[in-house]
Amino acid sequence: MPRPLAFYPDFPLRSLNSFGIEAQAKAYLPVRSADDLRTCRADSALDALPRLVLGGGSNILLTGDFPGLVLHMCGKGIEIIGADADATFVRVAAGENWHGFVLWTLAAGLGGLENLSLIPGTVGAAPIQNIGAYGVELQDCFHSLSAFDFGTGDVFTLDRAACEFGYRDSAFKHRWRDRAAILDVTFALPKRWRANLAYAELARELETLAAPTAQEISAAVIAIRTRKLPDPAVIGNAGSFFKNPVVSADQRDALQLRHPNLVSHRQFDGSYKLAAGWLIDQCGWKGKAIGAAGVYDRQALVLVNRGGASGQDILHLAHMIQTDVREHFGIMLEPEPVLI
Ligand code: EPU
Repeated sequence: MPRPLAFYPDFPLRSLNSFGIEAQAKAYLPVRSADDLRTCRADSALDALPRLVLGGGSNILLTGDFPGLVLHMCGKGIEIIGADADATFVRVAAGENWHGFVLWTLAAGLGGLENLSLIPGTVGAAPIQNIGAYGVELQDCFHSLSAFDFGTGDVFTLDRAACEFGYRDSAFKHRWRDRAAILDVTFALPKRWRANLAYAELARELETLAAPTAQEISAAVIAIRTRKLPDPAVIGNAGSFFKNPVVSADQRDALQLRHPNLVSHRQFDGSYKLAAGWLIDQCGWKGKAIGAAGVYDRQALVLVNRGGASGQDILHLAHMIQTDVREHFGIMLEPEPVLI
């Protein structure tokens, strides 16, 4: 027997989004299993509403009230489900906190995710934007996931190729957008672990250690993030507000001629990723504010809610920054969080 669904009408979302924006959902439902989603789908009134699948709310900007049903993925559980010669497989429910899960893997002696320490949000949301930091992306240790298909009511599995991971991108931003809810994710954590110190700032942080362990790398990442990024529990934000733009080698060379200090990194395919934080910083925005919406004073890529900002206030500031960067550098910055 499916349990009756306890959904809540006119539900406040402020504590469910890391920007701390005041907004309401027409209806809210904590989801613990695929059965909850099936029951919800069978209810014609609930099924007719627009849906927002929510994890930790750390990569969204609510631009107003949400006139539909928020499905808050709350399933819990972490389990080692097997191993082969190369990897240990760990299955994690969508509602687990990402950083809590990373600490769990390290305590279990499993390396691979240490560079992704302290990223806010939940495990189920992590594949959607293929979270990445300090030289590692989720896809590097990803095995598969299972998700609920709102169209058919079935649970399906996707392997790494089917997820079409890219830089802050996956099939859940395209083909599966608004059509599926991730239920759990399985990671393949390498048996022959090697430190990844490709990110210069991380290597510098660890330069006194000859052979840092996964735990030590995690501690270093936590130290860097704590220094540079605002704690959403203290000051509302959604991490980087824009993606780092990727440009052709020709475009990058032309920019470098005009701006000799340009910060850029060559990609595998010969293109270049520009540091959006540098572009914004150069336009003089670091530490500036328009009303309650501000640019963080230690990382220009992070927009912050200085207290009582609306989603529209943040958007207005973002548009001003985009216009300035386009006028100075001819580059259009693309928002990183999902705008609701
Ligand atoms: N920079 C400035 N001024 C600034 C900020 C940055 O000049 O105010 C320049 C510096 O030269 C710095 C470079 O930009 O060395 C890169 O900055 P940082 O190392 O902080 O990284 P990022 O490119 O700004 C990206 C991710 C972060 C991730 C870090 C570390 C994106 C959109 N952001 O930021 O991810 O933690 O690298 O890997 O790719 C997030 O997605 O929410 C996020 C925080």
